[in-house]
Amino acid sequence: MTITATGAQITRLTDRIGARLTGLDLTGDLDEHTVATLREALLAHKVLVIPNTPLDLDRQRRIAAALGPLTLAHPTVSAAPGAPEVLAVDSERNVANSWHTDVTFIVNPPAISTLAAKIIPPFGGETLIADTAAAYRELPEPLRALADSLRAVHTNVHDYVTSGDNDQYEDADDDYRSEFIATRFESEHPLVRVHPETGERGLFLGGFAQRIVGLGGQDSRDLIRLFQSHITRPRNVVRVTWEPDQLVIFDNRITQHYAIDNYAGLPRKLTRVTVGGDIPVGVDGARSRALTGDSSHYSPIPD
Ligand SMILES: [Fe+2]
Repeated sequence: MTITATGAQITRLTDRIGARLTGLDLTGDLDEHTVATLREALLAHKVLVIPNTPLDLDRQRRIAAALGPLTLAHPTVSAAPGAPEVLAVDSERNVANSWHTDVTFIVNPPAISTLAAKIIPPFGGETLIADTAAAYRELPEPLRALADSLRAVHTNVHDYVTSGDNDQYEDADDDYRSEFIATRFESEHPLVRVHPETGERGLFLGGFAQRIVGLGGQDSRDLIRLFQSHITRPRNVVRVTWEPDQLVIFDNRITQHYAIDNYAGLPRKLTRVTVGGDIPVGVDGARSRALTGDSSHYSPIPD
């Protein structure tokens, strides 16, 4: 356990990714030391599990806003009533049981996601979160060189029925799915992203990545599956168990996550608020670019 200058206690959850953070009061006003502690811990551990933090929507919003400019709830899905920056993550509408990084179909996906527990099933419902930097570091050298040279197209509109493991929307109600794909977005990202704050390199894929630039469908699927299999190796993954009043913050620039559908259809409700991100940059310095759709209403696009 590490104790920071602000008195926070940080306990690592694995040797690669994830830490439990206690001793920092996030329910009141946030001073600059508190925010600096949060930011440093997040960059170091990629995932922070913060128990005993009862938050209403406005307080969750304020914590996220202390870490950067907020996005709206989602580019296409409507926000929680009266809270334009809050997305209701509700098992009755959608079960996110596929590996993904949030909102990678736009040119500047959110930098940070915050999730607050509202209703937790009596068993199951854990969130798996994977370290995409460890996955990159441990690729055999020829695969790392290949990854460095590739770019992938991510989209919110694809054939969810035939896309293999991308079963994120099979269990969604039809209205949710229609809303999700109401406007088509497509962006091209480097397959290896350089983290803008730490300089770490991570594989940048997830369920919205649908093809590799310059390759056909079969080769794209095979390569995406190959790189995904390195990201989701058990050693790269922390399994986050939910408790009432628990806040989880993760760095969306260098992780993927998966909500396990193992709670027998019982209610599971979280609220999500995300911090806007920059435009990803690859190892060659080339940036992502938007191919279809204007997402600037959702998250201002930096120059
Ligand atoms: Fe997500």
